[in-house]
Parts: sequence; structure tokens; C-alpha cells
Amino acid sequence: METLSQLKKEKDAVVLAHYYVDKEIQEIADYIGDSFYLAKKATELKENTIVMAGVYFMGESVKILNPSKKVLMPDIKGDCPMAHMVTIEEIKRKRAEYDDLAVVTYINSTAEIKTHSDVCVTSANALKIIGKLKNKNIFFIPDRNLGMHVKKQFNDKNIILNDGFCPVHEYIDSSDLKRIKNGSALLSHPECRQEVLEISDFIGSTSQILEEADKYEEMIIATEEGIFSELEKRYPSKNFRKLPTPPICAGMKKQSVNKIIDVLKNGKNEIEIDDNTRRKALIPLRRMLELGN
Ligand code: 13P
Ligand code: SF4
Repeated sequence: METLSQLKKEKDAVVLAHYYVDKEIQEIADYIGDSFYLAKKATELKENTIVMAGVYFMGESVKILNPSKKVLMPDIKGDCPMAHMVTIEEIKRKRAEYDDLAVVTYINSTAEIKTHSDVCVTSANALKIIGKLKNKNIFFIPDRNLGMHVKKQFNDKNIILNDGFCPVHEYIDSSDLKRIKNGSALLSHPECRQEVLEISDFIGSTSQILEEADKYEEMIIATEEGIFSELEKRYPSKNFRKLPTPPICAGMKKQSVNKIIDVLKNGKNEIEIDDNTRRKALIPLRRMLELGN
């Protein structure tokens, strides 16, 4: 039987993975990272085929940024519900209301939504990018929690929120956290609700949480449980306390090593985006790479 490394060589392929996928994928991936790192890394690769082990918008972003490459998803049904929680009509309504509106779109969104956006952001660079925008009025989509976190940092801007959310982070319960905290540091993803963020010692993207963890000996991590694989690898002697109900992203968990092997063998589950959508969606993604660096 062909091994994964033989297959990658034969197909001139590379595997990218997000920190939320299963440990066994993180162990074989060529590159692991947060959404910003993965989008940026994808533009630097020389291989012709990119396998994206994450959720659909991640594969889509890789394809938009690299149209000449074959981008495969191990399971093409691995989706992020939040990516669909805003409509084009809502964007148009807001544009009609404000002359100088900037539509700032979290990368967790569909390609179609990106085509109506001025700039994309991730949780790692939203503050930095919004700080560089001249516009006073900003429509932040689709995530209301990251949006509110951003809004609190900019008194001089009118940041308008949308009602989307991540079901995985939304259900992390602040009363559970208060009950178990007991002196431990709490490191949270900004997709958590404000009650959680208000009692957190640190708020950041997955890769920022991974860096921050260096500072503490004992901590609670309020994000998807896949992150423990990298946390435990980097800091084997630290005490990571888990939540009573582990937050699990169903879309990320659809991916598996067997499915990676399968798509490499058969070339199936290729991301396809029509040229018009791709060209328009590229503008806010490119702007993110420029402003976020
Ligand atoms: P990061 O960009 O922090 O990795 O987050 C991606 C994501 O989907 C969080 O739910
Ligand atoms: Fe989407 Fe939430 Fe899963 Fe992240 S954890 S991919 S925001 S559903």
C-alpha cells in the first residue's frame, strides 16, 4: 500500500491543517496553524496540490488566493455554520445607510459574502487591520462576538454588529468557567460570548493562545478541544484544565487521515469557484494579507 508520503510526492501535494482537526491529522500535516497563517502559507507553497484539512471556507480561501493550484478537501462537507450567518441583502442595506461604510468580513464567511466585502480579517489580525482603516462606520460580519470584542477597543469608530455566532464557542458557559477557575489562568478565543471574555486573562486566536500559554503553569482554555494536541506537544509539563463540556467543531471533525489519503489517490473533493466570484473575493483577502502583515 502506498504511504501518505509517497502519495504526496507522486501528486506533488502538501497538507495544511487547522489546530481544531483531530490529533492524527495534526501529526501528519506539513503545516498547522490558525486561519491567518494557513491563508498566508498557502500563497508561499510551490506544490501543485494543496489538501486543506479544516472547514470549507478555509479551502475556499486557499483556492481564491491560488487559482492555479488544485485544492482538495478531505471531506468537502466539513463546514462552518457561522460562515453563512449574514446575507448579501443585509450588506446592501447597510451600504445604503452609510456613505463611508467599510464591510469588514471575518474570514469565516462564504466566498460570495467576500465578494461584497472591503477587507477580510481573522481573529489574529482584526484589531490591527481595523486600526488601519480610515472609515468611521464599519459593518463587522458575520460574528457578533468577535465584532463586540473589536468594538470595545475602538471608541472613535461606529462598529455595527451582525447577529452571527459560532455555535461551538457560543455555548461555552461563563458560570461553568467561574465555578472551575479557582486561580487558574483563562485563555479564550474571541468567538466566546462577552461574559466569558470579561473574565478571561487573555483573548486571542488559536496561535496567539498557543504562544500565551508559555506564561502560565496551569490554565483553562476556552476554545475548540483540538488545540490541546499542539498545547500538550509544546508544553508537556503544564497543566491544561479542560471544560466540563468539551467544545467540539463538527465540521473540523469530519476530516480524517484516511480521507486525506483517499482524496490524494482519487483527486476528488476539489474546490471549484467560478472566475467572477474568485476575482471579486480575492480583493478583500489580498487586502487582509497586505494590512495584516
Ligand atoms: P483561528 O483563526 O483563531 O484559528 O480561528 C478559526 C476558527 O474557526 C475559530 O473558531
Ligand atoms: Fe466555525 Fe466555530 Fe467551527 Fe470555528 S469552531 S470553524 S467558527 S463552527
